[in-house]
Amino acid sequence: MTETSGAGAPAFDIVILGGGSGGYACALRAAQLGLQVALVEKAKLGGTCLHNGCIPTKALLHAAEVADLTRESEQFGVRATLDGIDMPTVNAYKDGVVAKLWKGLQGLVKSRGITYVEGEGRLVSPTAVRVGDTDYVGRNVVLATGSVPKSLPTLAIDGERVITSDHALTLDRVPASVVVLGGGVIGVEFASVWRSFGAQVTIVEALPHLVPAEEESSSKLLERAFRKRGIGYELGARFSGVERTEHGVRVTLEDGKTLEAELLLVAVGRGPVSAGLGYDEVGVAMDRGFVLVDDYCRTNVPGVWAVGDLIPTLQLAHVGFTEGILVAETIAGLATRPIDYAGIPRVTYSEPEVASVGLTEAQARAAHGDDAVTTVTYDLAGNGKAQILKTAGSIKLVALVDGPVVGLHLVGSRVGELLAEGQVIYSWEAHADDVASLIHAHPTLSEAMGEAHMALAGKPLHAHG
Ligand code: NAI
Repeated sequence: MTETSGAGAPAFDIVILGGGSGGYACALRAAQLGLQVALVEKAKLGGTCLHNGCIPTKALLHAAEVADLTRESEQFGVRATLDGIDMPTVNAYKDGVVAKLWKGLQGLVKSRGITYVEGEGRLVSPTAVRVGDTDYVGRNVVLATGSVPKSLPTLAIDGERVITSDHALTLDRVPASVVVLGGGVIGVEFASVWRSFGAQVTIVEALPHLVPAEEESSSKLLERAFRKRGIGYELGARFSGVERTEHGVRVTLEDGKTLEAELLLVAVGRGPVSAGLGYDEVGVAMDRGFVLVDDYCRTNVPGVWAVGDLIPTLQLAHVGFTEGILVAETIAGLATRPIDYAGIPRVTYSEPEVASVGLTEAQARAAHGDDAVTTVTYDLAGNGKAQILKTAGSIKLVALVDGPVVGLHLVGSRVGELLAEGQVIYSWEAHADDVASLIHAHPTLSEAMGEAHMALAGKPLHAHG
């Protein structure tokens, strides 16, 4: 069977394979622009972000914050005791948040007149996706099949003692102890949750720092905060093997060191979902499973586009949204521009949070030369709200001498929310003076953003020296 409008003409302007952040954003925007859209999804609309990623993990992190506040309440003069973590109730709260958003998203897709197809799709030609025995034919096809957790060649995931983030999200208990393999975003966020819930946690990271893609000074501040929180970490440490013990696992590192724990969480990255979906047969160019695209998310096959975790750009939901919108608008004939990937805001929602946009100091020096780059670091010790919250951290600005701010790097509780302004500063190519003259409400954490720029402009207010 073929879904066409008769005489073999495609029924749809766009057929989208995959209903995660990239795919559904493309569908919603395209429908808004008057295009006929089919959206094919084999599991749940919303994909990894809504069901196995951003949203449920942030609910766990919020429950973790409540646990921390309860445990530490006495320092604020509030007497409370933490009796324990009731994981089934934590999970019910988390699942409730997801369910509500999922329902809203389903309603949204319906209300925009998108043809929603439940089922496993496969690319059978540059213009058709087959689901069961029906071909959905479009002038354009957008591949948005996302990613899944990766493992190492010698490391088998059993879902019980050796788990990925997918399993970690459905645990019905707080493990007594965990080894977390990989100190990237997922590893650090789960380490933070489990420590707040009372577990003993050790992170094993092959590179010299936690969140190694971040500004080095941010990584160091996070490491200091984690050390104070009792989260252990082995840096520059490579995994060698894991064996089952009576009650858990024994993890061996390449230097011979062993770590015992109830669970091993494997968080060494996510890989694209592209095998067996017909991409190869249709001639879509790929590299290690990632679909290759140009600056407008076009693959090498005319009419076939790809977005989200499936392509080798930052694996973030808001990158998927942006790419999906770019594709919808380009297909609709609007004047579009390539995405500035350095300007994508990045937040790790651990306690403390690590947030950044733009270039690191090292990237700025490599791009513009040592003499052209200047930096300033504003310590949150000088910020009233940070003292009220009892958080430590800083805002580091990377700027060109007599030029714009090209990078912002933040560490501290809740600093992810400050990144909205950071993104505007970066995209606006603001100079220190532009931001220094903006008025930030007192006492807010956002004031630290103003103070950092005052310092960069040579007129610090609440700063020593
Ligand atoms: P990642 O790439 O951020 O981190 C993986 C880490 O594992 C790296 O630091 C790497 O050096 C380390 N590693 C790799 N092999 C190793 C080995 N053999 N031994 C020790 N360490 C090893 O990947 P992650 O954390 O799994 O996250 C996957 C994706 O999901 C990322 O792209 C991330 O941006 C995204 N994500 C984003 C979140 C956010 O924006 N808040 C939250 C969670 C995930």
